[in-house]
Amino acid sequence: MKLFVYHTPERVPPQVTADCAIAIDVLRATSTIATALDAGAEGVQAFSDLEILIATSEAWDPARRIRVGERGGKTVEGFDMGNSPLDCTPERVKQSRLFMSTTNGTRALECIRSAPIVLTAAFINRDAVVQYLVKHQPETVWLVGSGWEGSYSLEDTGCAGAVIEGVLEQSGISLDALAGNDEAVSSVTLYRNFQDDLVSLFKHASHGKRLLGLGLYEDLEYCAQLDFLDVLPVQREQGVLVKSIL
Ligand code: MLT
Repeated sequence: MKLFVYHTPERVPPQVTADCAIAIDVLRATSTIATALDAGAEGVQAFSDLEILIATSEAWDPARRIRVGERGGKTVEGFDMGNSPLDCTPERVKQSRLFMSTTNGTRALECIRSAPIVLTAAFINRDAVVQYLVKHQPETVWLVGSGWEGSYSLEDTGCAGAVIEGVLEQSGISLDALAGNDEAVSSVTLYRNFQDDLVSLFKHASHGKRLLGLGLYEDLEYCAQLDFLDVLPVQREQGVLVKSIL
């Protein structure tokens, strides 16, 4: 097994050659996806384009459809929900499909969706991802950060490092044997630096500061809970994530 880290979707090679590709958008899309599926949502369907999202979701029973739209950290006008994981209570999402478009996270998912196995990771479901990797040992794994509009995000690369650290601990494989690129090594260093205080990592991050400016400190606290949920989001068909029974 070789783990490659790409800081942003733009860094991902044009030909998807990974056996398993993992999208990471800790603040907040992949934290929200994990929370919604854990709370009983039927699935989460990701779109980069808002109009295609609306057109596709029209065909769905309105009682079982939640349109999630976020741009710049704020809820898109006319959508049912923004991108806060705290809104994904069982009362609100159970048995519903979330049709989701966010600034960066859904773009990251789109660029890896042709991989044979697509997962999503956040700090809150890190261990579920680690256990999948240790059990199945896919030969080539890509960990893809969503970044922010093309630039690097501290929290996504930190989460990639947390996944690699977990695999190191549970598999006994050495870092040199596991790391597929230099980014993989540096992501572990970044994670180790902040592992005891992930909220402080968020406070250093540009998007963490943006969310704090919007008064969303509770979202940061929630997303910083390492291994909080035992849920593994997996792509069942292109763009549609469900709770894994793998
Ligand atoms: C994104 O896709 O950029 C994020 O999830 C933004 C957010 O809602 O905080």
